[in-house]
Amino acid sequence: MIAKEEICEDQARRGFFAKVSVALGALLALFPLGAGIGILFDPLRRKSGRGDWIAIAPLSALPEDGSPVRFPVILKESIDAWTKKKDVPIGAVYLKRVNGGDVVAFNVTCPHLGCAIDFRSAERDYFCPCHNSSFGLDGSISNPDSPSPRPMDSLQTKVEKGEIKVKYLDFRAGIKDKIPIA
Ligand code: FES
Repeated sequence: MIAKEEICEDQARRGFFAKVSVALGALLALFPLGAGIGILFDPLRRKSGRGDWIAIAPLSALPEDGSPVRFPVILKESIDAWTKKKDVPIGAVYLKRVNGGDVVAFNVTCPHLGCAIDFRSAERDYFCPCHNSSFGLDGSISNPDSPSPRPMDSLQTKVEKGEIKVKYLDFRAGIKDKIPIA
């Protein structure tokens, strides 16, 4: 005959294993759910290309005399949330030779309120027609009456196998500090 205590112990053991099974099952169910959420939101974590090195033009496209040339900045592939696009224009830059083989780059966007800056070949300067900010060839503010709160926004450049690459960024307008827009 089975003692009453043994029956109770057996029931308690079964209850314990049932609870452990339920807990394990719930835990295992969370893994695919977590992976699914990761896949669902993965595109939101991908970058727009800003801050990456982007090929702009061959070095041979720049005049030897140091005159700036404006180029569009084109992303070969852009992933915006769940949409994948090819050859997307994301901005424009002025490129200019210095010391023969080095290149300086400026974002064409005016730091004042975001208009596009022109290069004036006769004056040999940069000029923003919106509120008359003017900048020297080195990007510095050349007219003290310019409303721009800072010089033109320079960008990092490198030349690889004759190709100019720029680390392209946009910056917040209307403030003294050069703060990249994410
Ligand atoms: S936006 Fe360029 S001067 Fe105002």
